[in-house]
Amino acid sequence: MSADSTPPPAMDGLTISDAVPEAEFSKRVLIKSILGRPDKGAGLAGRKVRIGGWVKTGREAEKGTLAFLQVNDGSSPENLQVLVKSEVYNASHVVATGTCVHVEGLLQTPPETATQQKIELQVTSVIAVGTVDAAKYPLPKSKARLPLELLRDVVHLRPRTNIISAIARIRNALAYATHTFFQNHGFLYIHTPIITTSDCEGAGEMFQVTTLINDAEKLEKEFKECPPPSEADLKDAELAVKDKGEAVAQLKSAKASKEEIVAAVSELTKAKENFAKLDERRKLGDRLRLSGGIPKQDGKIDYTEDFFARQAFLTVSGQLQVETYACALSSVYTFGPTFRAENSHTSRHLAEFWMVEPEIAFADIQDDMNCAEAYVRFLCQWLLDHCYDDMEFMTKHVDKTALQRLEMVAKSKFHRITYTEAVAILEEAAKKKKFENKVEWGIDLASEHERYLTEEKFKAPVIVYNYPKAIKAFYMKVNEDNKTVAAMDVLVPKVGELIGGSQREENYETLQKRILDMGLPLEPYQWYLDLRRYGTVEHSGFGLGFERMILFATGVDNIRDVIPFPRYPGRADL
Ligand code: 4AD
Ligand code: MG
Repeated sequence: MSADSTPPPAMDGLTISDAVPEAEFSKRVLIKSILGRPDKGAGLAGRKVRIGGWVKTGREAEKGTLAFLQVNDGSSPENLQVLVKSEVYNASHVVATGTCVHVEGLLQTPPETATQQKIELQVTSVIAVGTVDAAKYPLPKSKARLPLELLRDVVHLRPRTNIISAIARIRNALAYATHTFFQNHGFLYIHTPIITTSDCEGAGEMFQVTTLINDAEKLEKEFKECPPPSEADLKDAELAVKDKGEAVAQLKSAKASKEEIVAAVSELTKAKENFAKLDERRKLGDRLRLSGGIPKQDGKIDYTEDFFARQAFLTVSGQLQVETYACALSSVYTFGPTFRAENSHTSRHLAEFWMVEPEIAFADIQDDMNCAEAYVRFLCQWLLDHCYDDMEFMTKHVDKTALQRLEMVAKSKFHRITYTEAVAILEEAAKKKKFENKVEWGIDLASEHERYLTEEKFKAPVIVYNYPKAIKAFYMKVNEDNKTVAAMDVLVPKVGELIGGSQREENYETLQKRILDMGLPLEPYQWYLDLRRYGTVEHSGFGLGFERMILFATGVDNIRDVIPFPRYPGRADL
């Protein structure tokens, strides 16, 4: 795009600054500040503004002497109608969908016949245009919609569609609401590591972080260019060390001059260094030949040679690390990306997703459930208060019940039932309804069970708590019955499991036994056990799947469409 650096001249006695206030750090008025007013911009007729945005739809009128554009800048779901006369700019150069226009003009009341708009912009000068070759533009030219599934193939351009931009604004609002909620309640935001050496869920679904493979590839390339030393080279180098050593010995016994001895010792050192270098390359050559360049010790990969001198992974959850801050600063939360290498192809799983994880000291599972419920209801109310226009869009185009669902959840109390009660309800339901997965006490509830409870039985969010200990993670507090743990899952319509959390086991012996019983090694969890060894405290927390919250709010069917850059098996674009 070409940009004119000189400010546009004032016209009709009006200057940009006495018109509608411009966005800060950007040379334009937000379209939202025109159309988002209660009068939809009508009262701004006669004002001079500068706007920038991308053409959603454009058409030429009056024999090509006028262009009618619908322009969107992402500040709101609504488009501003923009008119460009041919004496100002060539109409045919701005009408293609996707064209970027940075223009200045006068806001005016549209003619009576144009019922929809209360205001439109008559362009007086064009600051810059980013053109589009309509024949090559990957997005549809008209109001026609590409299915969300196809938009995933143009992940770099899909933010220009109405639906993806609405989702982006809703996602942004939920992130802001998350920080607002926890900050309002005295929680501290803690940044937990992305690279970790502990497996939080103990499920072994981690992506490994290693430089061993790049190193092996580098080695292979380098040895192709410069092969390892031959046996003969090594023998020669070894002989040289022997010769030089003998020379030094001889000089010493012949009581030669100091200078002569120093010179011979220096020769010997050089020979030794040369041999060591060749021997090192021989070893690397052997490694390349025997194990493709990966260092091994006793037949196993030797991670002491890896970047962190130990095995490392991408985190599946920041929980264990955030507990260290909860056990010192009391109420904390982490909110960041988490990674799971599970080969799930469902519409509710991603390999990279964001999780909000509060952790609260002096809190039991009841406090935990209260916090989860208050947080989810706060998020729903926040969207009603701050994103109503985008939510209306989702309700109109994606899911008729989206707004209704938010209103229902913001107002109503969540149902709370024990796992045992949930199983009884499901067993009763299984008499009339066919579930794919068998229901009996001890099973991990399948998605179909979770959705039955929340969508059909209660038609509202449900918290299921006290799960069998055999199906839950090692860190969860063992209940007095010694059969169940103080775990809780929040289930919501459309999604099923939105939140997973628990009271944590604060008893040192019990926790140690749980780790061992689950067949996990103790050593990596010693620091975690320290939190129980020293000043242990009753504490609880949970994790909310951020994309699942967006699915729930918007009614979008597939989780791949509510994260800007989805990562799932076989796919990681950009
Ligand atoms: O139930 P999960 O596995 O719980 C934990 O990771 C705990 N350490 C959290 C804690 O107590 N601090 O995951 C929490 C939530 C799930 O309820 C679900 O909403 C979401 O994270 N989630 C996923 N979202 C998208 N893709 C995946 N593969 C997900 N796996 C879990
Ligand atoms: Mg879970």
